[in-house]
Amino acid sequence: MNMMCLFVPAPGVSEEPDDSDVAEERAKIRMGNPDILRKTNDLLLSDVSKFYGSFQAVDQLCVGVKRGECFGLLGVNGAGKTSTFKMLTGDEKISGGEAYVNGLSLKTHMKQAHQIIGYCPQFDALIDNLTGKETLQMYCLLRGIPNSEIPQIINKLADDLLFTKHIDKKVMAYSGGNKRKLSTAVALVGDPPVVYLDEPTTGMDVVAKRHLWNVICQVRDSGKCIVLTSHRFKCLGSPQHLKSKFAEGYTLTIKVNNNSDTDIQAVKEFVRTSLQDAMLREEREGLMTYYIANTTLTWSKMFGMMEEAKTRLSIEDYSLGQTSLEQVRYTFLLLVP
Ligand SMILES: Nc1ncnc2c1ncn2[C@@H]1O[C@H](COP(=O)(O)OP(=O)(O)O)[C@@H](O)[C@H]1O
Ligand SMILES: [Mg+2]
Repeated sequence: MNMMCLFVPAPGVSEEPDDSDVAEERAKIRMGNPDILRKTNDLLLSDVSKFYGSFQAVDQLCVGVKRGECFGLLGVNGAGKTSTFKMLTGDEKISGGEAYVNGLSLKTHMKQAHQIIGYCPQFDALIDNLTGKETLQMYCLLRGIPNSEIPQIINKLADDLLFTKHIDKKVMAYSGGNKRKLSTAVALVGDPPVVYLDEPTTGMDVVAKRHLWNVICQVRDSGKCIVLTSHRFKCLGSPQHLKSKFAEGYTLTIKVNNNSDTDIQAVKEFVRTSLQDAMLREEREGLMTYYIANTTLTWSKMFGMMEEAKTRLSIEDYSLGQTSLEQVRYTFLLLVP
């Protein structure tokens, strides 16, 4: 999965030991040719800051996201992720810096940019008295989609995001997870080239999350640019990029197909022989969580081993994560298609 992740430090605590990605991205954008950067990035943030009064919520954020790329903004609560999205949608003013969507400056062309942007806000902005279908119909009409195409679009979104059976229920009857699915569907109505998803998986169960990743992959592969956030992040990432983030041991979670005993034993045997330092922390219905304290294992080596194991063993998917910095908690989840 072609996804980059950027850890956004909260302003004032910017000296995180591993926020080199932020510095790297910043250097790339500050030193690049502005014209070329605007042309080559569907979304470009150049030193974007947000002040609420004298309080700084976003500190000179530099991000470039290209077509067909999925970008994860990581950060603890209060790091400024939602504020960033609000500036990118025009809900909040940009206090400093410049932002461009498809080369359009958001400071001067927000109205045009709205036609290109799909947005799933962190807190569902849904109308309680509408059904899921009516909600999507409304957004289809707002997006100028011809009436004849609307039913098919709604069915596909509901299908992809697994809420077809709730489609005729009123939003007020939706669970938190189903509201997130509907809000994500709203963001995707009309195939906008740039999609922001702010904590889209909150309240979703594991199956729904997995489906959401599939949908995100499809959207990305159709040439769109996606930015999503999480305070407890799960992302599909390139091994090289994530390697630096896993210097202090791993949490490995493996989901075994069909929860079969023989298969579980085979996977355990693999872990025992290949990852001697692994400690089984939790096991439940074919889902095993290991803690691996070995810090000499590189991310790419772990990834390679798991990929190899996946071809031989009944592994449905697996995830690798880390919980090292005391106030930060994030997990990179690899659901390898
Ligand atoms: N409208 C607002 N007025 C004042 N402060 C705000 C406002 N919105 C957010 N903040 C503050 O800005 C910081 C960043 O918040 P937010 O963007 O929601 O972060 P995140 O989405 O990463 O959790 C927090 O300290 C929050 O309290
Ligand atoms: Mg937020």
